[in-house]
Amino acid sequence: MKKIPLIILAAALGAICIPINLSAQENVLPRPMNVSAPEKQKFVPLKKVSEKIDKSFLKTLGNEGYELTVSNDGNALVRAGTPTGIFYGKQTLRQLRRPEEIGKKKFSVPAGVKILDKPRFAWRAFMLDEARHFFGVAAVKQMIDQMAQLKMNVLHWHLTDDVGWRIEIKKYPKLTSIGGTRNDTEAITWGSGKMQGKPHSGFYTQEQIREVVAYAAARHIIVVPEIDVPGHSSAACAAYPELKLTLKQPKHVPVLFGGPNNTALDPSNERVYSFYNDIFDEVAALFPAKIIHIGGDEVRYDQQWKGEPKLEAFMKKKGMKSFPDLQLYFTNRIAKMLEKKGLRVMGWTEVLGMDIHGDGGGASAAGTPDRNIIVHHWDWQAKSDELVKNAIRKGQKVVNAKLQWTYVSQKYDKIPLKKTYEFEPVFSGLEPEFHGNVLGLGVQLWTEWIPDVGELHHMAFPRLLSLAEVAWTIPERRNWKDFLRRLKTYHAPRMDAQKIAYAKDAIPENP
Ligand code: ACM
Repeated sequence: MKKIPLIILAAALGAICIPINLSAQENVLPRPMNVSAPEKQKFVPLKKVSEKIDKSFLKTLGNEGYELTVSNDGNALVRAGTPTGIFYGKQTLRQLRRPEEIGKKKFSVPAGVKILDKPRFAWRAFMLDEARHFFGVAAVKQMIDQMAQLKMNVLHWHLTDDVGWRIEIKKYPKLTSIGGTRNDTEAITWGSGKMQGKPHSGFYTQEQIREVVAYAAARHIIVVPEIDVPGHSSAACAAYPELKLTLKQPKHVPVLFGGPNNTALDPSNERVYSFYNDIFDEVAALFPAKIIHIGGDEVRYDQQWKGEPKLEAFMKKKGMKSFPDLQLYFTNRIAKMLEKKGLRVMGWTEVLGMDIHGDGGGASAAGTPDRNIIVHHWDWQAKSDELVKNAIRKGQKVVNAKLQWTYVSQKYDKIPLKKTYEFEPVFSGLEPEFHGNVLGLGVQLWTEWIPDVGELHHMAFPRLLSLAEVAWTIPERRNWKDFLRRLKTYHAPRMDAQKIAYAKDAIPENP
């Protein structure tokens, strides 16, 4: 008898049937909206993948949804209203393989499956802080790859802070030559008294920024840079002392993290506005999404602005009664400046002009924030939720990134995996007619205590998977037990294969 080559035999058998217990569509994470499959399912090797953009899908599946079908003989078809929908359909298709086929170019898929899917929220963001520690292009691309597989669509890139300036600005080279280096770094935790004992530096050239932005765009991810003003500005002030107030004198980029070492810009100084106008011109040219995060958080009024005669005179002249008034004046002025350039502004909770930290005498600003500003709500206090809800009712768009659920820089004993899975981005008590003003969620990774990529992965994963599902999947389709099963059976091996050093001990044995 003529010998049949093993590979042909295997392929032929695969095309006939491989009975399975649990359907491979049950791997998919985030869990899709609607899945149908034959009761008795078989695997077939994936043959052709076709795609079709059909605008009629926009009505039912929006601009990120897709329909994926696999024929009985292994041909896949992805249809969607946009290229983004097609991209997500293909991400799902990849996750239809059996776990033992992870990493293989050729793989099999369940015959006769049909998936209809679309996200719950339009804003599904991951924030990487590279001011505290700088990781470099390869690490960022690796994060983007993971985000794409999880159908996350915003990389919020925290590029400036007190302890480091990480983006090349050609007009002001000292921002990176001075602001991009600190002589040492506090280690372990705030006030530990321990130091790393070596300098830390790094920044992205504009060419590298373009490379990362293009890499993300090819994966349907926009990049939103964060350039912090007026607070968290010590690195900028160390490089260009003209930006700072007279009494607060950071001579160097701080080596310790936290409040007393932070600096806020001088909001009474016209040079500050023209300086940042130049910066934002260069930044805007690099980020085609045209959304800029301006920070705005944690100006500690009592430490950074109080007692400055220059500011007191300025506030008196302008009729301002409180520091929140002064911050709101600054924020709205910057917002207008950016809007004139065709940019959308985003900022942390404090841009609403409330004294949420209680160090400005407890008064809220008399004015109102620019309603076009997207508020990135991080503050942990219950009282700030009420203020944010009121702003939402007045039309403010909000990304919910409440610290207790979404700060994956917090240790796992503070924010375990299950807690992240239980996050609900729509505020309780918010009337349904305003739910559309909650754009989605942010996942934040601050890197004070994350000196390397291994630790970065350990903190981000697997919590990024659970929050990606919260952002994409409607609550009725979310199930903690099933999430854990998918994580253990498919996505943990997938991350192993992709060299993601996720926190194995953060995955509970039992639900
Ligand atoms: C923040 O965590 N200060 C936004």
